[in-house]
Amino acid sequence: MRRPIVAGNWKMNLDLAAGRDLIASIRAEYATAEPVEVVVCPPTPYLFPAAKALDGCEIRLGAQDIYYTKSGAYTGEVSAEMIAETGADFVILGHSERRHTIGHLEDDRMINLKAHAARRAGLTPILCVGETLAERDAEKTLEVLTFQLTAGIVGLDVSGAKDLVIAYEPVWAIGTGRNATPAQAQEAHAHLRAELRRLIGAAADNVRILYGGSVKPDNAGELFAQADVDGGLIGGASLKADTFVPIIRAAVAAAV
Ligand code: 13P
Repeated sequence: MRRPIVAGNWKMNLDLAAGRDLIASIRAEYATAEPVEVVVCPPTPYLFPAAKALDGCEIRLGAQDIYYTKSGAYTGEVSAEMIAETGADFVILGHSERRHTIGHLEDDRMINLKAHAARRAGLTPILCVGETLAERDAEKTLEVLTFQLTAGIVGLDVSGAKDLVIAYEPVWAIGTGRNATPAQAQEAHAHLRAELRRLIGAAADNVRILYGGSVKPDNAGELFAQADVDGGLIGGASLKADTFVPIIRAAVAAAV
């Protein structure tokens, strides 16, 4: 059985004091040994203080991006090895904001190089895939997912749960308040699982596939109840314990 993950992607939000307060509040509510793995992904400068704030508890730390070489003349970039030294276990890769919004406009080749770099440093990649509204309207959703998944994991050795996590994040649902319906999420996740089986065989059953895009306390339960939805990657609602903790509880309820 797959252990669900609820991961908070803080994006470029909160300041140091607010981040510490948030971690303290989540810690106070989240008992250890629950059936769900909780991850927080603060901005890069807060990784070390966040690791300190998480010391001694089971909540895990993730970064929001890496560069793919170990070191060198890449001003402003941060390597997977540097991120691993902060105590992070996960790294989000290929987030739609990096694919579509931020100046770099990352492509699948770059994302694949980063996935290899993450694994080289012992980090678990959370590979984000998802279609735009135009692609959904053109009925290209499954095709886009197949391409992004296949290209993203080329050459990656995947057997256990720590080797890879996928996040299905439909671009039209991110930060819009418009979540995929549970049926739309399940269709996409089942497709990703089937494609994973084609690519990596039985290990596909070990890979957690998270849903992301306007997950809130009131829709988390029905999304997490879907057979191939193994938790969520949460943006806006991960910034307050009042909304993040109920989402963790919804995942716990769906898991037991
Ligand atoms: P929202 O939950 O704010 O829609 O963001 C989702 C997301 O992008 C998580 O990575």
